[in-house]
Amino acid sequence: ATENKALITLFGATGDLAKRKLYTSLFKLYQKGYLADHFALLGTSRHEMSDEEFQELVLNSIKDIPAKDGEAEAFSKHFFYCAHDVTKPEHYVKLKDRLAELDKQFGTEGNRLFYMSMAPQFFGTIAINIKKQGLLTDNGYNRLVIEKPFGRDFDSAKKLNDELSQTFEENQIFRIDHYLGKEMVQNIQALRFGNPIIEALWNNRYIDNIQVTLSEKLGVEERAGYYDNSGALRDMVQNHIMQVVAQLAMEEPVAFTDDDVRVEKIKALRSLRVYTPSEAAANFVRGQYGAVNDQPDYRHEDGVDPESGTETFVAAKLMFDNYRWSGVPFYVRTGKKLADKFTRIDIVFKKPLIDIFANPDTADKQALKSNVLTIYVEPNSGFGLRLNAKHVGQGFTTEPVDLNFVQSDTAKKESPEPYERLFHDALEGNHTNFASWAEIAYAWKFVDVIRNLWDIEKPQFPNYTPGSMGPAAASELLARDGRKWVYDL
Ligand code: BG6
Repeated sequence: ATENKALITLFGATGDLAKRKLYTSLFKLYQKGYLADHFALLGTSRHEMSDEEFQELVLNSIKDIPAKDGEAEAFSKHFFYCAHDVTKPEHYVKLKDRLAELDKQFGTEGNRLFYMSMAPQFFGTIAINIKKQGLLTDNGYNRLVIEKPFGRDFDSAKKLNDELSQTFEENQIFRIDHYLGKEMVQNIQALRFGNPIIEALWNNRYIDNIQVTLSEKLGVEERAGYYDNSGALRDMVQNHIMQVVAQLAMEEPVAFTDDDVRVEKIKALRSLRVYTPSEAAANFVRGQYGAVNDQPDYRHEDGVDPESGTETFVAAKLMFDNYRWSGVPFYVRTGKKLADKFTRIDIVFKKPLIDIFANPDTADKQALKSNVLTIYVEPNSGFGLRLNAKHVGQGFTTEPVDLNFVQSDTAKKESPEPYERLFHDALEGNHTNFASWAEIAYAWKFVDVIRNLWDIEKPQFPNYTPGSMGPAAASELLARDGRKWVYDL
């Protein structure tokens, strides 16, 4: 592994994400040698804390990761802390001095990575002050890694982006979408562009429809404060689903570089049909979970408005107006308190135009089933391919058989977690797995139409039972087109 020399400034150093994901990811990079002697992290948040206390906090976050003797302690000595009120310009001066010292002490060669992992209303202020108070360097790189949510509609996202742009150029900004750090989401590109037998069929001549499911078993848990203001459309559709769909829909990039991939993803999202309000009403379904046994319905969860109209489920039909996809619906869905926790993509191929095996005497005139290619993202990682084959025995009937490839447990264990991957990419300056401003802008413009419509009309909630796959309307959305969800209960 090549060592990345870098000085990281983390805003939100005592937050949940930092404790659960960021320190563990950095530790894994350290164990693998991607980070070594020449890195340091300056953590900030409102809390007063000494460097030693902060190092304890870091050690505590990584305590479950198997390590060599003394490795965790040595790692923790790269962490420093400075209490900071992001709204006070004078506090940035303290940060600036501390950064200058650490740069010297650790030989980070002026490489600065600023990481924002805190309440989004401060993102803009922090970015502006980073420049104004002189926290940027001119001898290494300056990069910004920024957590979601990136705005709550197009206008607020644009405002945020304009603020960030006062300090950072587009190619210095890394907008996190952790779905892009998932092994099997990245694998979409290998599957498509590494296999002529797949890519040759990847169009409206052979594909009937594509289904993307991001299903969650848990409810809103402790995040009501955020979630009730957001809802599934903003929380999952605008970002994760749009990014997955863009990868499925994009054209082949000229080369597998971040710039080339971006261009194609932007083009794909640009051809996504933006609905009129009446089209949106017809093509989007929202839901909110009800009560079951001793578990309260969404409206009675801690911190949720008892009359909340926030959706915890979304299903939709998306259409791309381009030569490859014209006429092929992309059905997507996501929700809380569904049957299970999993993410999968089903590519449903067209049936044979003529079924020579059909038996006119049976009710099922078409014996041949659709071929389905499934990309299992989580919890299993792998591919499935459903083909028609002859049923074993006398006579001639067909039945579907499944070819499955599932990544082994060992392979899965060795596969870095999204945050480890994305941190590494940002340190390397590779944008492939980050969302560009143009992609985010198109995604918001698309989503805003739906949001505006839903904000006016009062929904009939709750409308689905926990443990189901959402409201009945989610099945009707496909049934209307003579189709079904491949994964159904
Ligand atoms: C986050 C959402 O972005 O993604 C959460 O804010 C959601 O509401 C989570 O639970 C799902 O991510 P994963 O990786 O567990 O599928």
